[in-house]
Amino acid sequence: MALLEIVGVSKRFIAEGKQMEALKEVSLSIDEREFVCFIGPSGCGKTTLLRIVAGLVEPSSGWVSLDGQPITGPGPERGMVFQEYSLFPWRNVLENVGFGLELKGMDRPSREALSRQYIEMVGLERFEQRFPHELSGGMKQRVAIARALVNEPRAILMDEPFGALDAQTRNTMQTELLRIWSDKRKTVLFVTHSVDEAIYLADTIIIMSARPGRIKDRIEINIPRPRVRTSPEVNGIRDRILQDLRSEMED
Ligand SMILES: Nc1ncnc2c1ncn2[C@@H]1O[C@H](COP(=O)(O)OP(=O)(O)OP(=O)(O)O)[C@@H](O)[C@H]1O
Ligand SMILES: [Mg+2]
Repeated sequence: MALLEIVGVSKRFIAEGKQMEALKEVSLSIDEREFVCFIGPSGCGKTTLLRIVAGLVEPSSGWVSLDGQPITGPGPERGMVFQEYSLFPWRNVLENVGFGLELKGMDRPSREALSRQYIEMVGLERFEQRFPHELSGGMKQRVAIARALVNEPRAILMDEPFGALDAQTRNTMQTELLRIWSDKRKTVLFVTHSVDEAIYLADTIIIMSARPGRIKDRIEINIPRPRVRTSPEVNGIRDRILQDLRSEMED
């Protein structure tokens, strides 16, 4: 059985008195450990879809289930990492990472011990006493990833997590994320605007159409990792996706 089932999900919003359809009948099964990237024109509903899976937004119709259980709200089995660095500015790295454990009522020594494992995993062991304003963008996103993973979620939902980073840091973060993913074997739903990033990371790329957002194409990437960004196979897939996206802009 798939870990996540997205079944006939539509979402309508009322904006300025008019109804608009952000998502239309999106259906998708995602397996345990699958790395799925979503790509599509701005406004096609990628963030909305992720927020529905997170349980932060309710679909107008359709449903999402995790392990056969319908999703009705946020839960610790789904960790989120956003584009904006959503750390607490008044908490240091150790306290940011341990936030979810604190909510669960875990005592301080256990919380700190577990948080330290994840801080080490993202390579920030020397920075656990630092505050967010003392960290670079890449470091802040590492903290956000550690904070999502420390709760041992089944799935991690990432909305353009590296969008604000420079190209060099972004490449490093992609490689780091793959290392963590292959180690922890989490299911990942990852939204990006970068075709190259999607091809470097994903098992499956979902291409979405412009408003209302639907699934336009689904591409399985069977190239072994680490992938060479300029290999002929990668170039071939890039051409196909760019063509898909171009036809979407022209429609
Ligand atoms: N709370 C809301 N109320 C009204 N309209 C909304 C709301 N949230 C999203 N929308 C609209 O739904 C559509 C999809 O938005 P969404 O943020 O999901 O797009 P996106 O694919 O993530 O875009 P981007 O690539 O720019 O991040 C947009 O037209 C947006 O204006
Ligand atoms: Mg978005």
